[in-house]
Amino acid sequence: METFVFIWLLLICFTHLASSTTQDFSFIGFKEASPNLILSGVAGIADTGAIRLTTDTSRMTGHAFYSSPIRFKPTGQNRTTSFSTSFVIVMVPEYVTLGGHGLAFAITSTPDLQNSLPSQYLGLLNSSRANFSSNFLAVEFDTVRDLDFDDINDNHVGIDINSLESSTSTPAGYFLANSTKKELFLDSGQVFQAWIDYDSDKKRLNVKLSPFSEKPKLSLLSYDVDLSPVFGDEMYVGFSASTGLLASSHYILGWNFNMSGEALSLSLPSLPRLPRPNKNKKSPGLILGVSLSCSLLIITVLVAAVMFFIKRAKDDDRVEEWELEFGPHRFAYRELKKATNGFGDKELLGSGGFGKVYKGKLPDSDEWQSGDIRDVVDRRLNGEFDEEEVVMVIKLGLLCSNNSPEVRPTMRQVVMYLEKQHPSPEVVPAPDFLDKNDSMCVGDGSGNGGEFEDFVDSARFYSRPHETATSSIFSSADKTKTDRR
Ligand SMILES: *[C@@H]1O[C@H](CO)[C@@H](O)[C@H](O)[C@H]1NC(C)=O
Ligand SMILES: *[C@@H]1O[C@H](CO)[C@@H](O)[C@H](O)[C@H]1NC(C)=O
Ligand SMILES: *[C@@H]1O[C@H](CO)[C@@H](O)[C@H](O)[C@H]1NC(C)=O
Ligand SMILES: *[C@@H]1O[C@H](CO)[C@@H](O)[C@H](O)[C@H]1NC(C)=O
Ligand SMILES: *[C@@H]1O[C@H](CO)[C@@H](O)[C@H](O)[C@H]1NC(C)=O
Repeated sequence: METFVFIWLLLICFTHLASSTTQDFSFIGFKEASPNLILSGVAGIADTGAIRLTTDTSRMTGHAFYSSPIRFKPTGQNRTTSFSTSFVIVMVPEYVTLGGHGLAFAITSTPDLQNSLPSQYLGLLNSSRANFSSNFLAVEFDTVRDLDFDDINDNHVGIDINSLESSTSTPAGYFLANSTKKELFLDSGQVFQAWIDYDSDKKRLNVKLSPFSEKPKLSLLSYDVDLSPVFGDEMYVGFSASTGLLASSHYILGWNFNMSGEALSLSLPSLPRLPRPNKNKKSPGLILGVSLSCSLLIITVLVAAVMFFIKRAKDDDRVEEWELEFGPHRFAYRELKKATNGFGDKELLGSGGFGKVYKGKLPDSDEWQSGDIRDVVDRRLNGEFDEEEVVMVIKLGLLCSNNSPEVRPTMRQVVMYLEKQHPSPEVVPAPDFLDKNDSMCVGDGSGNGGEFEDFVDSARFYSRPHETATSSIFSSADKTKTDRR
């Protein structure tokens, strides 16, 4: 009987030792690492050995966690011990400088984040309000400004504790040896390394960033916090990333983690390369689609006339495949000549290295007064769409193609409207309102503007409310993309 108890105790000790030995690990690339990782969402390991948390598909999440939990509180103690980690990230945006949503290093009580949401939730939470059962610490590398979470800008690093509203955050950057801070653009496709160190004596969390292999002396973020109430005895460590309407491919190239000392820095040249970019380029996305469909409605146009192009257009009127899908947008030389009064000097807006730019007005520019707003909705949606979204898309298209540059929103603003971070614009002036009445200002909904407004809003009354009234043109676009593989 005594021997039995002894062996039993011995066994317990051994299993306990076994589970607590993994206190540091190192991945220089992840080719052989799949047994040690829990991948979920769209995450996978690329041929080259990089973890790809997300592809540039919209509204996706991807997670990669170390498969064994890490013991952060020694048995019998109630204090989170120090830890240290270093890792190398690359974010490749779908469109140059337009990517999203970001990536986070996360320490969570569970590696199962299936219920979490993409976009601004970074795959970590499933609603800003809901009480997530598990605790977490995250260091976010966020490339979209989310007003829900009081983000400071669209290129920041933040420390998040049990909430995506950062406890502290700062614009992304790094410190040179002489203490000069340099800006770092997270979603520029540049390789960069991050170091996160928690000192349990000082109760301080430090975050450093650099595009080089050497660890900088100065921290980008330094936050005084006791993680003991946040962490359980054992927690999972890993990464979470998400895409929104804008997407980036998020990669991890290497990762060191250490509970028994400072994590070694990774040598950038020793890490795997990125996989080659996807050859079958996606069809032009929603943004392009929006502006092209709008060109059907608003036929007022500014014409950039490179003489060579006009000549080509004249004797080579080949219609390309994509034009058939998105409708007419090309103008014959004759039409251009008429629209610009024979390229008259009065219509000349300016000239530059690319040739001369003329202002032009096509004969049926006021067609909106007789047209049907439904014509701009893609027929393939079979009348099933969310009216509010359609109205917003139409309004954005109108704003983007307004004659006056000051009325047009920036690409960032457009994205924020589409992501619903701004309410949809209230007043949309007719494309040519400044031409007709110079004294009228945006925001004045009277006269031409008001009439035009009513016309745009009339789209609300055309959808079929009984069939899938809640279906979204955005999410149905996503579905077709997800089916890709
Ligand atoms: C959010 O996550 C919690 C915990 O995982 C889960 O119980 C809940 O059903 C989720 N809610 C939604 C809307 O997915
Ligand atoms: C979340 O937790 C807080 C405090 O425990 C509570 O007041 C609140 O009602 C909870 N919210 C939800 C949505 O459960
Ligand atoms: C720090 O070094 C960088 C490049 O080495 C230099 O451009 C910058 O002027 C220096 N700043 C100071 C304050 O010396
Ligand atoms: C551990 O610390 C937490 C938070 O400080 C406290 O609520 C809890 O009672 C402590 N538990 C023990 C066993 O000391
Ligand atoms: C962890 O720290 C110890 C002690 O400083 C060091 O010997 C070891 O190489 C480190 N491991 C990693 C993966 O950084």
